[in-house]
Amino acid sequence: MVTIPAPFPAARFRRMRASDARRRLMRETTLTVDDFIWPIFLQAGENDETPVPSMPGVARLTTDRAVKAAEMAAGLGITAICLFPYTDPASRTEDCAEAWSPDNTTNRTIRAIKAAVPEIAIMTDVALDTYNALGHDGFVVDGEIVNDETVEALVKMTLAQAEAGADIIGPSDMMDGRIGAMRAALERDGHQNVTILSYAAKYASAFYGPFRDAVGATAALKGDKKTYQMDPGNTDEAVRLVARDLAEGADMVMVKPGMPYLDICRRVKTELQVPTYAYQVSGEYAMLKAAEANGWLDGPTVMLESLLSFKRAGCDGILTYFAPEAARALKAGA
Ligand code: PBG
Repeated sequence: MVTIPAPFPAARFRRMRASDARRRLMRETTLTVDDFIWPIFLQAGENDETPVPSMPGVARLTTDRAVKAAEMAAGLGITAICLFPYTDPASRTEDCAEAWSPDNTTNRTIRAIKAAVPEIAIMTDVALDTYNALGHDGFVVDGEIVNDETVEALVKMTLAQAEAGADIIGPSDMMDGRIGAMRAALERDGHQNVTILSYAAKYASAFYGPFRDAVGATAALKGDKKTYQMDPGNTDEAVRLVARDLAEGADMVMVKPGMPYLDICRRVKTELQVPTYAYQVSGEYAMLKAAEANGWLDGPTVMLESLLSFKRAGCDGILTYFAPEAARALKAGA
């Protein structure tokens, strides 16, 4: 419903913008530290890190440094972190067995963070790409990414992460039927309280480029991911996928990438009224950082403006590499 405004000068819209107090009173959408999930990259080893060149300010961390990062994040009030491992080329195989090893980098780091910083929620990534010699999120058989065999592997991966103490499982693979299979296995094995945040509407996007560099998947990847990730032209399909994943047992759903897909966030929230998250992905972060480095944009301001846009589009939270920087800016009263 649109109310017809009184004619000028009775309605001067600028009156409500005339002071900071009135702007704050009228503001519909705000950003808080509770909105952020912070993705971090992991690597094997000790007391070391490797900067990600296309993501200024981001580095892959060894477990001990990831624990420090989690402590820092909790200190800033950040509620959740999400772990993405880099796997050494030697541990990348076509059977992807490292993915469900109880002692892989992710599972070791989950245990270490749980012991040191129990208050922060730990989210994980479930997909085979960082363990796969062929770089795909699923097994490749005769050039095809096979669905059902992949789902069995994803279930093993999920259980290993839940066993290690993960709070939120994040399947990012886009296979069909994985949420139901994972939920059934979690129930069966006594992990009733493990949350599933499904990457339900994940598009085949070129905005993932810097991430693939960070986890070492760029060189490995043969071909593209268009047979399992969504076509960027679709919106009805996103709503159907979200509804399907919820019916199979997802607690939270994600739209990914973020800024170019805010229309999808809005549709999901309006049509389904469910806990809705967006991933402001590596390429979005890289774009803003690159423009800032060139002096073309005011970095801190566009950071917060971009994050606010997710809230305005209906999101309940945002996975963002800016999380600590944004938390600090909010604390400082930005
Ligand atoms: C892999 C995965 C990707 C991202 C998260 N999980 C890359 C891909 O699908 O190729 C991208 C995140 C980002 O770009 O920040 N399953």
